[in-house]
Amino acid sequence: MTPIQLPTFLALITLTITTLCLPPAAQASVGLQCNGPDRGSTLKVMHIYDQCSPFRPANGGVSWEETVVETMKKDDARLLYLSSLVARKSVVPVASGRQIIQSPTYVVRARVGTPAQTLVMAMDTSNDAAWVPCSGCVGCTSTVFATAKSTTYKTLGCQAPQCQQVSGAARCTGAIPTSSCTFNQTYGSSAFAATLSSDTLTLATDPIPNYTFACLSAVTGTSIPPQGLLGLGRGPLSLLSQSQSLYSSTFSYCLPHFSSPNFSGSLRLGPIAQPLRIKTTPLLRNPHRPSLYYVNMIAIRVGRRIVDIPPSALAFNPTTGAGTIFDSGTVFTRLVKEAYVPVRDEFRRRVGLPNVTSLGGFDTCYNNVPSSFVFPTISFHFAGMNVTLPVENLLIHSTAGGLSCLAMAAAPDNVNSVVNVIASMQQQNHRVLFDVPNNRLGVARERCT
Ligand SMILES: *[C@@H]1O[C@H](CO)[C@@H](O)[C@H](O)[C@H]1NC(C)=O
Ligand SMILES: *[C@@H]1O[C@H](CO)[C@@H](O)[C@H](O)[C@H]1NC(C)=O
Ligand SMILES: *[C@@H]1O[C@H](CO)[C@@H](O)[C@H](O)[C@H]1NC(C)=O
Ligand SMILES: *[C@@H]1O[C@H](CO)[C@@H](O)[C@H](O)[C@H]1NC(C)=O
Ligand SMILES: *[C@@H]1O[C@H](CO)[C@@H](O)[C@H](O)[C@H]1NC(C)=O
Repeated sequence: MTPIQLPTFLALITLTITTLCLPPAAQASVGLQCNGPDRGSTLKVMHIYDQCSPFRPANGGVSWEETVVETMKKDDARLLYLSSLVARKSVVPVASGRQIIQSPTYVVRARVGTPAQTLVMAMDTSNDAAWVPCSGCVGCTSTVFATAKSTTYKTLGCQAPQCQQVSGAARCTGAIPTSSCTFNQTYGSSAFAATLSSDTLTLATDPIPNYTFACLSAVTGTSIPPQGLLGLGRGPLSLLSQSQSLYSSTFSYCLPHFSSPNFSGSLRLGPIAQPLRIKTTPLLRNPHRPSLYYVNMIAIRVGRRIVDIPPSALAFNPTTGAGTIFDSGTVFTRLVKEAYVPVRDEFRRRVGLPNVTSLGGFDTCYNNVPSSFVFPTISFHFAGMNVTLPVENLLIHSTAGGLSCLAMAAAPDNVNSVVNVIASMQQQNHRVLFDVPNNRLGVARERCT
């Protein structure tokens, strides 16, 4: 990772840009907007800094640079986690600096139990699990699910078939038949202890009875989303497999840009109301990592030129885990070094401005670019689908116009990553369709509102 150059950084701090501060008009209507119900099978997707998100920093005055640098650090941890997933190795905890929140970036409101209790859960397309912080949880920091208040809550025993599908249920080997299915797992730089449980999960207006989830009883570290995690992966025990009859393993989302005025996007569950006309590419299945959404990226274009990338940097390899995935939990697209360097070099060449600076992990930033300046577009070419990203998906700008950075990076040096991750910044304001029965992933431009 390129260190921040001190003079540049000091100059930046003095700008204290607050893209995250809302105009007064927006603040006045917060109450009304936030309590609006989710309808049908569509959930409102919020950025964690959304005015309706309970995880929005209290002072609201996080500077743009601070946000960017923090986000990049969280992405490093996320990449380490994804790399451990693809390599099927246990996660090496990373030392974390001061972090605002180290969980996935987008949250939705889910309701658990009878009567329903609302939790704002993180959405994670690369994970199958559903985790809910439960009453009595040691180390949980936000609202918890009061299990005793739900008439439909049950814990699952070691004998339950679902318990066999959970990794880390060590206590169950040789356990007496009545023991509950407790297990420990790691996630990013965190660890947790949980009891496999079931209850009704209500998404928008759809109840999913007897939904199996991990009821968290102890948490260490800062990576576990404070009010739980809703995994949208496609492996066993995932929401998709548990709601098969309701949603047929089909969903789409539109992720809002974090600096748009009211941020909200949507998570649309089930085959109904999905876009009919949408460009798609086949989903690839990695038998070792069934939950990840792999696709076949075959080329990257900067402006009109196809960048010269060694085919091995893009090729899908189920054994090593190499290839390209779509992930909603990483913010900035990460390419393996052999792909990133030529893309970046071509981008710099096309931009043609002499002074390239860096910010946090971004190595291609420009100071004081006139607003009339036209940056090149970047296209990702997938089998059967080209996605050309407009500038809003490629550059992060400080609102004062001081600095513009290419919002992509290579994997940091300490992460031996083989996977290319198409991340949320590059997906914003697009509808991304996950159609598992037809084995395809679709992308279409859409203004999320
Ligand atoms: C899980 O972690 C807890 C501490 O959080 C520990 O008491 C327990 O023994 C662990 N269980 C297993 C199965 O490793
Ligand atoms: C779901 O749980 C209820 C009790 O809460 C039970 O009556 C019902 O049989 C369960 N359904 C399934 C499919 O397991
Ligand atoms: C978002 O904000 C715009 C104007 O600020 C408003 O017209 C629109 O209705 C808002 N959308 C939602 C979903 O609140
Ligand atoms: C680039 O940096 C040099 C040295 O810092 C400075 O003299 C020059 O004006 C800069 N050029 C532009 C276009 O900003
Ligand atoms: C993607 O773009 C390349 C040229 O830039 C073209 O050859 C190819 O046919 C396009 N693919 C699709 C599916 O449109």
